[in-house]
Amino acid sequence: MLSAAAAERNKDPILSVLRDIVNTERPLQALEISSGTGQHVIHFAQALRNITWQPSEYDRQSLASIEAYRAHYHLHNVKPAIHLDASQPHQYWGGIQPESLDLVLNINMIHISPLSCTEGLFKGTGALLKPQGLLLTYGPYAVNGRITPQSNVDFDYSLRQRHPEWGLKDISFLNSVAQKNGLFLEKIVDMPANNKCLLFRKESLV
Ligand SMILES: C[S@@+](CC[C@H](N)C(=O)[O-])C[C@H]1O[C@@H](n2cnc3c(N)ncnc32)[C@H](O)[C@@H]1O
Repeated sequence: MLSAAAAERNKDPILSVLRDIVNTERPLQALEISSGTGQHVIHFAQALRNITWQPSEYDRQSLASIEAYRAHYHLHNVKPAIHLDASQPHQYWGGIQPESLDLVLNINMIHISPLSCTEGLFKGTGALLKPQGLLLTYGPYAVNGRITPQSNVDFDYSLRQRHPEWGLKDISFLNSVAQKNGLFLEKIVDMPANNKCLLFRKESLV
């Protein structure tokens, strides 16, 4: 069971946003993309029992950690973690059926993965969400071409040094990728430590 300090710090603030946006009585289906250690999915599943959670990861060591958390907590509403590469088409995402999900969650992946992962995230989510379903992304973002404060500027610089395609993405860019896939930015929530939650809703066909 790996433990990430950032996940420990942000899990309650993100849970609070989830409580505000999701129905807490109806049975719902959620997919987490890039679950990391598994700390988030376990925390959210304990608090939101009406949601069946599908954790996923690209990294094999993280997959083992998620499974260790699952074995420890025995939660009936957390499915076995699946291997999921966000840059791949959704047909390779563990057999999840189109328009079968109420919620997709993606925490701290967009700024620290190649652009193909961001594009794949929105494309796959657009296909797998039910109409009116929600995508919640969390992380640091640029706003109208500006990154603030200086600590995020420094963070962005260090990410780009590590990989030319890493770095903070602009919210307007993410919104344009989202719109191409039938998702619309509905709400931006400011979070602690200069992060944000972005809430994208899948448009209804009616
Ligand atoms: C900073 S970690 C965040 C993990 C977790 N969501 C959290 O907040 O603790 C970034 C995550 O992106 C994942 N990732 C990298 N490339 C990926 C890909 N192609 N598809 C899906 N996830 C990927 C990594 O394995 C890692 O778990």
